[in-house]
Amino acid sequence: MVQVNCNYLKLKAGYLFPEIARRVKGFTSANPSVELIRLGIGDVTEPLPKTCRDAMKKAIEEMGTLEGFHGYGPEQGYRWLRESIAINDYQERGCEINADEIFVSDGSKCDSSNILDVLGDRNKVAVTDPVYPVYVDSNVMAGRTGEAGDVGQYEGLEYLAINEQNNFQAEIPDHHVDLIYLCFPNNPTGAVATKEYLQRWVDYANQNESLILFDAAYEAFIRSNHLPRSIFEINGARECAIEFRSFSKNAGFTGTRCAFTVVPKTLYGRSVDGEKVQIWNLWNRRQSTKFNGVSYIVQRGAEATYSVEGKKEISGLIDFYMENAAIIRQQLLHAGFQVYGGEHAPYVWLKTPDGIDSWGFFDQLLQKAKVVGTPGSGFGAAGEGYFRLSAFNSRENVEKAMRLISKIKF
Ligand code: MLT
Repeated sequence: MVQVNCNYLKLKAGYLFPEIARRVKGFTSANPSVELIRLGIGDVTEPLPKTCRDAMKKAIEEMGTLEGFHGYGPEQGYRWLRESIAINDYQERGCEINADEIFVSDGSKCDSSNILDVLGDRNKVAVTDPVYPVYVDSNVMAGRTGEAGDVGQYEGLEYLAINEQNNFQAEIPDHHVDLIYLCFPNNPTGAVATKEYLQRWVDYANQNESLILFDAAYEAFIRSNHLPRSIFEINGARECAIEFRSFSKNAGFTGTRCAFTVVPKTLYGRSVDGEKVQIWNLWNRRQSTKFNGVSYIVQRGAEATYSVEGKKEISGLIDFYMENAAIIRQQLLHAGFQVYGGEHAPYVWLKTPDGIDSWGFFDQLLQKAKVVGTPGSGFGAAGEGYFRLSAFNSRENVEKAMRLISKIKF
């Protein structure tokens, strides 16, 4: 029989969201007439912007003609989309990023896992705790960790606790780590980072020759012009960071699939012999070999997000979800919960009432309010005692969910 990748056997239970889906299925099978409100997985619910739909329809029509047909596209993405991204998301905000440094893909989740392909397996990796589980699980799958201990933390990974004491901002290590995953606005806590805080990370990374993997999938939800939307707004980041971005949450592309990763040409790692190696070259090589690009139709849809009309529609979507977040925050505060996030992020992070653990709170919410959320412990040991509610749902459902949650006696 064929040998399997035994690293997968180290993984704890299921991936968080399928595990929630499994529990929810158990509940709905036993209670088939009950309608649940889902504020668990951060999946958008509002329709795709008309500008994007129109652009995709036009692209489909083009594909039906000899002149407009497109076969394989460039593995890195079409030039016109990469240019639009470089100008709108970076150059207009003063970031020195050009189109060549942008790699269009089908998702940040895939990219943040695939990036390990071009990084050595001896790197000391740091993640926050709690954390988006993909960063941890992809390291486990790639054999970059040992076994999980009692609280589910993997040997070989360094966990940087984030909690209310440190304002959900990890302390900068006082020793060397090679690879650091940062996510701002943060999933799951909804915390944001200031320029000063990110500058400290960038300085650390440059002093230590470390690499920051910066997940900015939620940047569009930042409501203040003073907060950085990209790590490349920070001096020195071109020498130490890779950024992941997505059209999933801002333009509703979770089911349409389009994202991008920014790898500056000025970013270097070292070979085992100590020779400097350009990471852009390796990622370009990796993508050209293992990826055939995103469909022409979808890239035209993504490009449309940068049109005047597209920007207007996206800003409407963000406002809508952020109003949901504000309702969730206010109602929870009113009901006496300790609440974090939800001001520059579509996630509200709450402390569970005394004595109830994260999965216990999940069960109570499911049974008593028929609301699905995400247990904080699913994001790491330090997430125990917390719970995440997502603002991605209709206004009606959010209001109903909050009415029901407010009534529960814990
Ligand atoms: C989440 O709920 O954390 C996100 O939906 C996960 C993702 O974007 O992959």
